[in-house]
Amino acid sequence: MRILVIGSGGREHALVWKIAQSRLVAKIFCAPGNGGIAHLAECVDIKADDVFGLLEFARKEKIDLTVVGPEVALSLGIVDEFIKAGLKIFGPNKNAANLEASKVFSKQLMQKYNVPTADFKVFDDPEAANKYIEKIGAPCVVKADGLAAGKGVVVAKTVKEARGAVASMMQDKIFGDAGKKIVVEECLAGQEASIMVITDSKQVLALASAQDHKRVFDNDQGANTGGMGAYSPASIVTADILVEVMEKVIYRIIDGLAKEGIGYRGVLYAGIMLTKEGPKALEFNVRFGDPETEVILPRLKSDLVEVMLAATDEELIKVKNLYWDPRACVCVVCASGGYPGDYAKDKEIKGLEEAEKLKDIVVFHAGTKKSGDKILTSGGRVLGVTGLGDTIEDAIHKTYKAVSKINFEGMHYRKDIGARAIR
Ligand code: AMP
Ligand code: GLY
Repeated sequence: MRILVIGSGGREHALVWKIAQSRLVAKIFCAPGNGGIAHLAECVDIKADDVFGLLEFARKEKIDLTVVGPEVALSLGIVDEFIKAGLKIFGPNKNAANLEASKVFSKQLMQKYNVPTADFKVFDDPEAANKYIEKIGAPCVVKADGLAAGKGVVVAKTVKEARGAVASMMQDKIFGDAGKKIVVEECLAGQEASIMVITDSKQVLALASAQDHKRVFDNDQGANTGGMGAYSPASIVTADILVEVMEKVIYRIIDGLAKEGIGYRGVLYAGIMLTKEGPKALEFNVRFGDPETEVILPRLKSDLVEVMLAATDEELIKVKNLYWDPRACVCVVCASGGYPGDYAKDKEIKGLEEAEKLKDIVVFHAGTKKSGDKILTSGGRVLGVTGLGDTIEDAIHKTYKAVSKINFEGMHYRKDIGARAIR
């Protein structure tokens, strides 16, 4: 088969790496890809949100299956366009992608189908939002309705901060139309976990659990990032909790969508808060999580392409089980100086080969590019150094040993990835 993967981050490197191990695959393309992906796939210079450019490429290259990494193309309806053109593509259609593209849609669906989630109200008027914030007090959470590249959520510690978020979203319009409507909700306390499933709308297969680390500094301090590392399995997700999440969150939302006439095919990501009252859904994403994918796929023993094809063909029932490596996996993100603010680029990365020579280590590239024989930094999150170990401690130890071999000017990373699992 000829496969096209869309995207350019660590998640897409992990997808390409796993897809390359499939016995079904002869050739992989990645649009636009990155310096690490280029070793496994032919990178093509088409942007990840250029729906018609990607469609034309897939037609011309006779692609048998397209796999979409990031959410933007999904929300633009890439799946609908590919299906219209008779091409196979793994991912939800535009209506289903609203689950991530509109927080209002997502929260209202959760409410309608009884998915446990934070209490909330929707506003299209800043005055009314502020009045509500005064009433419920702080802490509270303010969310822009639309896609905002992961920056549309403010967990406000004070009423002033919450009002500031309302003003910047609705009056200063920092996210454009994405902030026309907002959700104001109750702040939940607890540990977070990420649960992903693959579904064809009827059958559902859970992937291994994971936990990511969103803040830039150790002990969850500092600004939010796209993710500074992850580990799998998330030990706080016990078998009982997983059953509860599947029953109360995953099945209810997939069945709810079906009742609305929307069949969900692809991977569904639920961000879960494990509260004292039980698991509650924080959000849904309609794609693989990043960096969760980097720690889940190295543990997956089943053929991912077979599973994605079955979901795309609505024959997931044929896949009885997913098989997992019982070992733990840890991913430490090496970021550019300044990230998550403005950061430097074009720094040469040294030590990659030495790190990758280590047993059970794979280095996923997130923001890199090839320049001659050199690999240069090209993004905020640069590498996801990933290691497997018999225990989480062992995986942490091996991964940080690999990180110590790598350097580039300004490189920074968290020193406590996975530590929560031991505590
Ligand atoms: P979201 O994009 O909705 O997942 O929000 C991003 C992050 O904001 C989540 O991973 C949580 O850390 C935090 N968050 C979102 N909603 C809430 C909430 N109701 N209570 C506490 N934290 C939240
Ligand atoms: N790791 C969070 C996300 O992929 O949105």
